[in-house]
Amino acid sequence: GVRLGRPVIYRIPATGKRPMTFTAEGLPEGLKLDSKTGIITGTIASKEPGDHNVTLEASNEHGKSSRPLKFVVGDTLALTPPMGWNSWYIHYHRVSDKIMREAADQMIASGMADYGYSYVNIDDCWMQPQGQEPYRGADGAILCNKKFPDMKAMNDYIHAKGLKSGLYTSPGEWTCARYVGSYKHELIDASQFAKWGFDFLKYDLCTYGRLMKNTNDPAELQVPYKKMGDILKTLDRDIVYNLCEYGKGSVWKWGCRVGGNCWRTTGDLGLEKDKRLPGFYYIGFRNAKLYEYAKPGCWNDPDYILIGYVGDARKGGLGKPTTLSGDEQYAYMSMWSLMAAPLIFSGDMAKLDEFTLNVLCNCEVIDINQDPLGKQAKIITQTDDLLVLAKPMQDGSLAVGLFNLGEKRRKLTADWAELGLTGPKIVRDVWRHRDIGTFDKEFTAEVNRHGICLIRLRAK
Ligand code: GLA
Repeated sequence: GVRLGRPVIYRIPATGKRPMTFTAEGLPEGLKLDSKTGIITGTIASKEPGDHNVTLEASNEHGKSSRPLKFVVGDTLALTPPMGWNSWYIHYHRVSDKIMREAADQMIASGMADYGYSYVNIDDCWMQPQGQEPYRGADGAILCNKKFPDMKAMNDYIHAKGLKSGLYTSPGEWTCARYVGSYKHELIDASQFAKWGFDFLKYDLCTYGRLMKNTNDPAELQVPYKKMGDILKTLDRDIVYNLCEYGKGSVWKWGCRVGGNCWRTTGDLGLEKDKRLPGFYYIGFRNAKLYEYAKPGCWNDPDYILIGYVGDARKGGLGKPTTLSGDEQYAYMSMWSLMAAPLIFSGDMAKLDEFTLNVLCNCEVIDINQDPLGKQAKIITQTDDLLVLAKPMQDGSLAVGLFNLGEKRRKLTADWAELGLTGPKIVRDVWRHRDIGTFDKEFTAEVNRHGICLIRLRAK
């Protein structure tokens, strides 16, 4: 068994500390690059569907690095899983304009944005709560509560940083936290969200369930989700559409068809009980089975990354440090990456410590999640104490996760035959950015309790 040693912090210092200069070669007409921030803005002039291949280069006092960046003109959004932050598991009903702006500030200051995190999303509770009228203006337009004095200004602020913004509503009369939903106001609300400048919508079933005969009936469930999906297509704004109905009616079979870019596959992760293993593992097992349904633009969503400071969802509580061990956190992030899940952190942006950032911001782990081929890892082996997931990558390599679900550190093996591989492979330790060596038929590593060995295998 190979000893991998202690995890090391590989995160590069945040933007600003070491000024970078960016250049882009082959930028299509209509786009421009800010050479100091690397932010590209504009609208591609040509309306022809197709790819525009750009080479992006970044340099600073330490050297330079470049990689391809592809712009795709077409109808499909979220060609790779969305990455960002959501307010729910730390702010609950306390969420405000100020909190959202500060989260955006932190996304930049912490360096998260440099790794691809870009959505800053308000969850429930930005509207008026039940009992606090008026709910809507005379024209029917939804009103924000007093914590959100000016959504447009807030979004302008977020966008000026090169980030995107999102919000939440329900097809029901009330949201899950009993705030005003979009029932019978779908078009006026969606148009308003576009006017405010939102880029992402989470549409949460909640009290719509009361209007249904059978909340597990796919045909009944599709009605509200298709309705909003159709409306979003008519708007002059790209809004990523996140279905949230807890995996009812096998949403993975029709979520894409009704216009969804990602759909929650399970109940709330924050309400999932820890049993022998922490709750994320059980949510992950359910999501992992659905690998056939994920593809660019259409992703299975096993809910947020709950690490760092998070609050108890049952109480809407204030944040406390996660109870997950370091190994469990590496396993969590690895599993979500292998499953091509949206990477949406929902802990406290104001209390990001080095370790949490180290888990969230490892570029080779994120590369697995964001791989353009867009395959979700297949389950190779699953027993009580072992899970092996394998994700084919666009470059022909294979990302493999060996999860030790047992209670003791032990040796786990990646077996070429089981993985459908033949011949010698170079094994790369993904978390540590290191080639370990060339192996002919199998690779064995020692893995900590509830932890992971995440490797990438490529032809020699
Ligand atoms: C549901 C969703 C959660 C969160 C809350 C908000 O429980 O599944 O993700 O949005 O509603 O009330």
